[in-house]
Amino acid sequence: AGGAWIIPSVNQAGDCRVTQDELKALVGQAALRYVEPGGIVGVGTGSTVNKFIEALAAMKDQVRGAVSSSVASTERLKAIGIPVFDANEVEELAVYIDGADEIDGGGHMIKGGGAALTREKIVAAQSRRFVCIADESKLVPVLGNFPVPVEVIPMAAARITRQFAAMGGQARLRLKDGVPIVTDNGQHLLDVSGLKIAQPLAFESEVNQWPGVVTVGVFAHQKASVCLLGTPSGVRTLD
Ligand code: 5RP
Repeated sequence: AGGAWIIPSVNQAGDCRVTQDELKALVGQAALRYVEPGGIVGVGTGSTVNKFIEALAAMKDQVRGAVSSSVASTERLKAIGIPVFDANEVEELAVYIDGADEIDGGGHMIKGGGAALTREKIVAAQSRRFVCIADESKLVPVLGNFPVPVEVIPMAAARITRQFAAMGGQARLRLKDGVPIVTDNGQHLLDVSGLKIAQPLAFESEVNQWPGVVTVGVFAHQKASVCLLGTPSGVRTLD
């Protein structure tokens, strides 16, 4: 643990027979070994985490409950009979399990493709360990191909867009059916393309202090401690 991660080479054997969905299921299942029996587990958001929640159903009687990072995950957890605690009721979590839109060799991530970045960062911050689960397509040498989600207070969106333009990024308001999407926290989202984030810690620190930014979807201060990466030849554990 602690050293730089190795970027694995792609295994050619049987690649075409393994779907992305199957890789997500593989890492969702593999994450169970990080869940402490009798404890409360932090649960992220997204299609990979949905696989983890499905797997967690098998050990639902062995956990006290979960702290969830979104309304969507809360509904899924409750549907399988896992009690969901408010984050304020729990001082510290042993582990937080969540996906990523991109992850680099140092465990820094882009997150927020599912619009849950603010609550994800909050639950990650109260967890001792962040276990990232992802299929191998998410591992990149440098963050930035995936547009960086940024949750913003709506009245600041235009100015924040100009601030990103000044650093070479193009910010677009995330829309659904032609109208701005509204997050679980009642705010808007910008998706910023055109950035290469070679220094994730510095980038996160800078953007986070712009007035009107609720959360930037770069997770460097709350980076992954471990990444379970789904590959056609099995789960690679990067730590
Ligand atoms: C949601 C997230 C997700 O973890 C991220 O978008 C990855 O999602 P998926 O597992 O569906 O690829 O940050 O806000």
